[in-house]
Amino acid sequence: MTPVSTGSRCRVCGNSRLKLGLDLGFLPLANSFLSAERARDPTPEQRYPLRVYYCQDCSLIQLIDIVNKEEMFGDYAFLTSASKTALTHFDEYADEMSRRLSLNSTDLVVDIGSNDGTLLKSFQRRGAQIMGIEPARNLAARCSAEGIPTLNEYFGPETVSKIGKHKARLITANNVVSHVNDLNGFMDSVSEALSRDGLFAFEVPWVVDVIRHNNFDIIYHEHLSYFGFKPISELFKKHNLDLIDLQHFSNIHGGTLRGIVANSDSPLKSETVKRTFDRENREANFESLEGFARRVLEIKHKLSQLLLELKRKGKTIIGYGAPAKATILLNYCSIDRSILDFVTDTTPLKQGRFIPGVRVPIVAPEEILRKNPDFALLLAWNYKAEILQKEQKYLESGGKFIVPFPEPQIIS
Ligand code: TMP
Ligand code: ZN
Repeated sequence: MTPVSTGSRCRVCGNSRLKLGLDLGFLPLANSFLSAERARDPTPEQRYPLRVYYCQDCSLIQLIDIVNKEEMFGDYAFLTSASKTALTHFDEYADEMSRRLSLNSTDLVVDIGSNDGTLLKSFQRRGAQIMGIEPARNLAARCSAEGIPTLNEYFGPETVSKIGKHKARLITANNVVSHVNDLNGFMDSVSEALSRDGLFAFEVPWVVDVIRHNNFDIIYHEHLSYFGFKPISELFKKHNLDLIDLQHFSNIHGGTLRGIVANSDSPLKSETVKRTFDRENREANFESLEGFARRVLEIKHKLSQLLLELKRKGKTIIGYGAPAKATILLNYCSIDRSILDFVTDTTPLKQGRFIPGVRVPIVAPEEILRKNPDFALLLAWNYKAEILQKEQKYLESGGKFIVPFPEPQIIS
């Protein structure tokens, strides 16, 4: 199978009036952290085109270069439970949905892309039956061992038959819909697996936040679509599903939309939707994508200059957090080991590995206090509040953070 294929039609509306808005060049896969052995091998890792297109019909902002899924999701190092912010967010999510649907012990909750089972555990604590669907082998095995029934596969028509005759009262998919290439097939299966009175809830980064905050590092090969309200509602309409609620969380992944979808015909006409819609018309059109592309270049230059200037002055710099985003930011801005001594991350699965492309080693966070670097580049910028609070000691001892977005800035 070829590792990358390039489509020519919009994955929501099927039209082919796609216009290139941003080209990040060829970059490695964001989550393919290297083993120490691979990092010693001078053969460069595979790089794939990262180009962002705008659909002139439904306005979906999207990638059309599709990397083979097995290259990306076979083994996965991202854990939802790695941040307090995410744990709280998902527990509140389970609480709200349990109350909204009055879930009880006969109700089934299916989580697509269940990762380490964080959300399902919250539903289990509240008494519902649960089932995870997770394509990453390492994560599915871990959940099954912890008593969270998990099917190790991509969600699709075969999964629906395995869920059983008991249809789901609730299906959730968080940071999953953006990863799906065959969106229409996916929605058919969701609709098939959902009970008449059930709900489908999903979270995606909101394209307006990505553009407004200049968060270009959220663009990687796994994230095929950058959604706004308009293409989302167009998608659901095609599957006899209705978006009945829309919420915005500004502190999750730099800005996330949660949509709640029902089988019934209950068109949503709330103020939130109207505001969302108006803002998108102004802030997520082709011109805004072009403006974004110009600012991305400016950030690249500003950040590289700032870091080079600090190195010239003899300062030590490390990276804080090794999210997938770090691979994109560091490679796109050519920030390698000549600038960063190491990157810290709390996830044991990532420690001892290396950031793809730039090959900066990932170590445990304890190294910060041991090495006391002058500057820490905040790569996990979406947890800024949580991290600044946690790293008071480092800040008090004179350490400084460099926050890349919306513009490179030093915080002391
Ligand atoms: P995410 O942005 O994709 O959620 O990934 C965040 C990464 O940052 C994840 O690998 C865990 C790491 N992290 C830290 O190393 N320290 C922290 O305090 C937090 C909140 C996250
Ligand atoms: Zn379209």
